[in-house]
Amino acid sequence: MRPEAAPVIRLDDYTPAPYLIDKVDLNFRLAPKATTVTARLSVRRQEGTTPGTPLVLDGDGLALAGLALDGFPLSDDAYTATPDRLEIRKPPENPFELEIRTTIDPDANTELMGLYRSSGTYCTQCEAEGFRRITYFLDRPDVLAVYTTRIEARKSEAPVLLGNGNPVAAGDIEGTDRHFAVWHDPFPKPSYLFALVAGDLGHVADTFTTCSGRKVDLKIYVEHGREPWCGWAMDSLKRSMKWDEEVFGCEYDLDVFNIVAVSDFNMGAMENKGLNVFNDKYVLADPQTATDQDYANIEAVIAHEYFHNWTGNRITCRDWFQLCLKEGLTVFRDQEFSSDQRSRPVKRIGDIRLLKSHQFPEDAGPLAHPVRPQSYREINNFYTATVYEKGAEVVRMLKTLLGDDGFRAGIDLYFQRHDGEATTIEAFLTCFSEATATDLGQFARWYDQAGTPHVEVKSHYDKTARELTLELSQAIPPLPGQDKADPSVIPIRFGLIGPNGSDMPLGRVTGAKVQDDVLVLEEGTQKVTFSDVPNRPVVSLLRGFSAPVRLEFHQTTDDLLFQASHDSDPFNRWQAVQSLASRDLIQLTSDIRAGRKPEADGALVTAFGAILADRELDPAFKAQVLDLPGEADIARDIGRDVDPDAIHGARNALREAVARAHADTFLTLAEETEGETAFSPDAASAGRRALANRALSYYALSGADTAEALIERRYHDATNMTDLLAALTVLVHQGLAGAEEALRDYRKRYEKMSLAMDKWFMVQATAPLPDGLEKVKALTADPLYDISNPNRARSLIHAFATGNPTQFGRSDGKGFDFVADNVLTLDARNPQVASRLLTCFRSWRAYEPARAALAEAALLRISEADNLSRDSQDIADRCLQ
Ligand code: TRP
Ligand code: ZN
Repeated sequence: MRPEAAPVIRLDDYTPAPYLIDKVDLNFRLAPKATTVTARLSVRRQEGTTPGTPLVLDGDGLALAGLALDGFPLSDDAYTATPDRLEIRKPPENPFELEIRTTIDPDANTELMGLYRSSGTYCTQCEAEGFRRITYFLDRPDVLAVYTTRIEARKSEAPVLLGNGNPVAAGDIEGTDRHFAVWHDPFPKPSYLFALVAGDLGHVADTFTTCSGRKVDLKIYVEHGREPWCGWAMDSLKRSMKWDEEVFGCEYDLDVFNIVAVSDFNMGAMENKGLNVFNDKYVLADPQTATDQDYANIEAVIAHEYFHNWTGNRITCRDWFQLCLKEGLTVFRDQEFSSDQRSRPVKRIGDIRLLKSHQFPEDAGPLAHPVRPQSYREINNFYTATVYEKGAEVVRMLKTLLGDDGFRAGIDLYFQRHDGEATTIEAFLTCFSEATATDLGQFARWYDQAGTPHVEVKSHYDKTARELTLELSQAIPPLPGQDKADPSVIPIRFGLIGPNGSDMPLGRVTGAKVQDDVLVLEEGTQKVTFSDVPNRPVVSLLRGFSAPVRLEFHQTTDDLLFQASHDSDPFNRWQAVQSLASRDLIQLTSDIRAGRKPEADGALVTAFGAILADRELDPAFKAQVLDLPGEADIARDIGRDVDPDAIHGARNALREAVARAHADTFLTLAEETEGETAFSPDAASAGRRALANRALSYYALSGADTAEALIERRYHDATNMTDLLAALTVLVHQGLAGAEEALRDYRKRYEKMSLAMDKWFMVQATAPLPDGLEKVKALTADPLYDISNPNRARSLIHAFATGNPTQFGRSDGKGFDFVADNVLTLDARNPQVASRLLTCFRSWRAYEPARAALAEAALLRISEADNLSRDSQDIADRCLQ
């Protein structure tokens, strides 16, 4: 380990802040290279703090330009200031006012934390610890203050000046080319929710009238010329505001709600009070540049950030260990919103695909951590799938266990009791516990134990006794720093499917708590008996994926096929096909490794045909069924000695078998949307396109001699980005003759539209072709490639590392080396983007020995590099531990 390893921050060490800051007056004099910030803080000693205790404020790379206490300059020996700390040695009696002046350089800010410029627009990002890059402060979420922000800038450079809260004053500064605006946010908030934006921006405007009749002005700000692409985001915002009133009783609380889209942004978006700042890919959409998936993502992210107004802003986190208090809950809320706006089962399948492909591997490897971590070195590395996605699953289980009414009673109590506070998971759970008179002590383990529980189930049916027995057990495999785990409360939604295909009524059940159709597993092992079961049922477990566990239930192929066509739960119909496919893919992989010819399972191939032929099924659902487990999913299921080439070969073999067996059906399905010119982003239309495009990609594999020409034609005839990108992807990924020409054409069409160009880079980065890496390297020299733009870097390097398993995991190690080089280059500019890229190495130990050694060498090279950021050092060290 390196000598100056960052200190470990522990949840157990939490202590309240010794001082509080009730009021903050900020004055920004904006200039690209030297912005001056004057902060006037009303500071008060916290009860319990000994008088005279030094006041220590956080900083990060700051230069102090002035300091006064109650209006008087401080003598040199009364304080010390370093770039990361300002200490007032002996603060006076309560309360006092501290005035701090700092000078910062937005143009030099490549980390995109604190105040920076994106395409000339000044903007801020303060979560988690960015405010300390603007001024010295108690930069922790349990210090809540009322902010007033004055912003001053040259009129020509920044005609638009935005802050948190409501606008209270604005005007010209006479005799100069400058102007100002003053914003006041009456709701006390932590510093991470502070924001300002200043620039030459266009906007679209609308209004929303809240349930109590208050009119709110809504605006979305974008670069000039992009206003026509804001319609879907605005529509999504209004639907979110309405939904939150209706479903959670949450009403908006300011006179204005502003959204700003910027093109340089580290993550998706940020929920700053009244002034959300977005990565522009989650705002801008029109049919020519955005896919159906983009539309769905925009709807979800707009909702997510809006919903934070109550879950995150009105009620915030006491400390960063409680991050899931706002994130898990808010993801749960945005998932519910999308489910209500679209197809609930299809949304659930998509969410679980994401959970299994991103969160499960995280939770099974060296970066595993509890939903609420107990320690960290760098908080930015904990904005993870576990905190967000598993955190949402934990909230969902709470709802499953307490029922709709119990859940609503608990959340109502939470809003009522903790409004205006910075609180904890314990306080959150107490609300549910009190509102429903339920002991949630054991349930709380979901927050504190890392790892995905494995739930093993054996079923036995006794015809004479008319009894079904299930033997269930749960365990979490050992993880770094967690040798063993205690049993969790696992709600298993289930049904017993009778021979006629419908669910049997339940008789007496012994051995476990059963609430309606939910069996609650609480012990390490449990034996559950169902009486009066007239026939052997097919047991459908974990319906709707009712708990984030790995279910090991060894059903026969016949039972799974039966479930695939009869389960009343659409999620489990999908899951049954996935389980069959995954079983076959594991078999095919080992055939390839043993030098045998891979022969796909005929019954499975036939099952796909039955689903395709079912006229009752939603096309979007069929598209999901046709989407086989990804290569990373197969690797995860195999678990060790992973050979990405064999997995890729296996998946191709199964895809080809399905394609050849059903070529005619695929052609018919692919042609179903042909000639459609009107575009609507609604779920039904998107579902039809998803199925047609999935069919097209299968048809391309069918060996039909008309396939290649059809795909080229589909590319050229496409009238929307969804169809265009689908055809381009088939051309490029299958290495078809028309690929190069189509790529040139696409580039010419979209060269000026960066979000569309990101897709152009991504399609090529994820092409599973033998010279994929060389192509990606060549693309880094493309004039449109720009490593300093996070979206662009992600669309090439991150997409390659996570979406091209055969080329990233090349047996010559060159894929690992290339990504390692890029981690190091990025790290010097933007540690957050670099360390996130670095997590693509987390499953390195699962590779077969030769690849594992090469990946380890690449990781070691990173961990030993000079001047590595705390972010990347933390990930590298944990991967290697
Ligand atoms: N809180 C934000 C969200 O939930 C995400 C976020 C955290 C973020 N840190 C960030 C966004 C840093 C951008 C940069 O959506
Ligand atoms: Zn969030």
